[in-house]
Parts: sequence; structure tokens; C-alpha cells
Amino acid sequence: MRLTWRSTLALAVVVGLIAFLGAIVVQKAWAQAKGPADFEFAGGAEGKVVFNHEKHSAKSPKCTDCHVKVFKMTKGQRSAPKMADMEKGQSCGACHDGKAAFGVKEKADCAKCHKKG
Ligand code: HEC
Ligand code: HEC
Ligand code: HEC
Repeated sequence: MRLTWRSTLALAVVVGLIAFLGAIVVQKAWAQAKGPADFEFAGGAEGKVVFNHEKHSAKSPKCTDCHVKVFKMTKGQRSAPKMADMEKGQSCGACHDGKAAFGVKEKADCAKCHKKG
């Protein structure tokens, strides 16, 4: 095949387009691997609780350890767990039991989740 300047230009456009679409796919896959952005629970008088997907995934929990048995994965939907439920091993307490991860009953651990101010 003879490459004219026209076909060279067309080829360059196609290659550029594929690279662009590829970058979007990779970025989406990466965002999914890390999980969505941080979000806050109000947390009452003890102070707000920030949940970080990326840190959790790095600490070993797989998406399926939480979704969807412990937490739903509906966009924008937030559960409102109560400390009493967590102390019984539900919600965050499924892991934060003082064994798999720091617990929810020790005074010294409250501030690992709750941030005042
Ligand atoms: C340690 C538990 C945990 C792990 C592990 C986890 N998630 Fe989540 N995820 C949550 C919680 C909590 C919510 C908020 C829903 C709720 O409060 O019930 C949530 C919400 C979501 C949402 C909805 C987000 C929004 O903007 O409303 C998506 C999407 C999601 N998770 C994807 C993932 C993916 C992908 C992974 C794996 C990389 C993952 N999650 C791992 C706990 C977890
Ligand atoms: C593993 C993280 C975590 C730890 C540790 C933790 N909490 Fe919480 N706490 C939460 C979350 C999440 C909520 C729910 C917030 C919401 O729905 O707005 C909450 C809610 C609360 C509330 C609001 C009312 C209620 O009972 O649900 C109080 C008060 C509270 N926590 C006190 C404490 C105290 C005191 C400690 C330490 C003994 C503690 N928490 C340890 C995550 C934690
Ligand atoms: C599938 C198990 C699992 C569940 C469910 C879970 N966590 Fe964790 N979390 C972990 C592990 C493991 C660590 C690292 C533990 C350690 O260092 O003791 C951790 C660490 C954390 C940390 C410290 C790191 C950081 O992100 O700053 C916070 C805060 C935290 N979890 C909050 C929560 C809250 C709030 C919930 C409920 C919405 C929750 N976790 C549910 C397993 C879990």
C-alpha cells in the first residue's frame, strides 16, 4: 500500500482517537479499583466519620467483603449505622471488632473514626 499524506493523516487521527478512548477506559477502571471518593457520616456528638475506600482496599478488604452483604453499593445511598449495632458486629462492626480491625468499644479507638472540628 502506498502511503499518501492523506492516508498518513487519516491513520494519525485514528491512532490518536484510539489512544484517547483507551485512556478514558483505563481511568474508569482505575477509579473502580480504588472505589469511589471519600464520604462523611455525620457521627453525632463524637464528630464526623470519614470513610475512605482507597485506604480500606489497601488494608486488604476486597470490594466483595463489604458489597453487598454488609453495605449496599447504590450511588448516593448512605446507611446510618448506630454504635449499638456496630457493637453487635453489624455494619462497620463486621470488621471493627478489635480483631480483624480496631474495635468500636475502647475509648482510645473512638478518635480513629471520629474527628472533631
Ligand atoms: C470496608 C468496606 C468497603 C469496602 C472494602 C468497599 N466499600 Fe464501597 N462502600 C462502602 C460503604 C460504607 C459505602 C456507603 C454505602 C452505605 O453507607 O451503605 C460504599 C459505597 C460504594 C459506592 C456508592 C458510592 C456513592 O458515590 O454513593 C460504590 C460505587 C462503591 N462503594 C464501590 C466500591 C468498590 C468498587 C470497592 C472495591 C474497590 C468498594 N466499594 C469497597 C464500604 C466499602
Ligand atoms: C469503625 C469506626 C468507628 C469507631 C471506632 C467508633 N465509631 Fe461512633 N460512629 C461511627 C459511624 C460510621 C457512625 C454513624 C454516623 C452517622 O450515621 O452519622 C457513628 C456514630 C456515633 C454516634 C452517634 C449516635 C450513635 O450512637 O450512633 C456516637 C455518639 C458515637 N458514634 C460515639 C462513639 C464512641 C464514644 C466511640 C468509641 C468508644 C465510637 N463512636 C467509635 C463509626 C465509629
Ligand atoms: C471488611 C472489613 C471492614 C469493614 C466492614 C470496615 N472496615 Fe474500616 N478498616 C478495616 C481494616 C482491616 C482497617 C485497617 C485496620 C487496622 O489498622 O486496625 C480499617 C481501617 C479503618 C480506618 C483507619 C484508616 C482510615 O481510613 O483512615 C477507619 C477510619 C475506618 N476503617 C473506618 C470504617 C468505617 C467508618 C466503616 C463503616 C462505614 C468501616 N471502617 C468498615 C476493615 C473494615
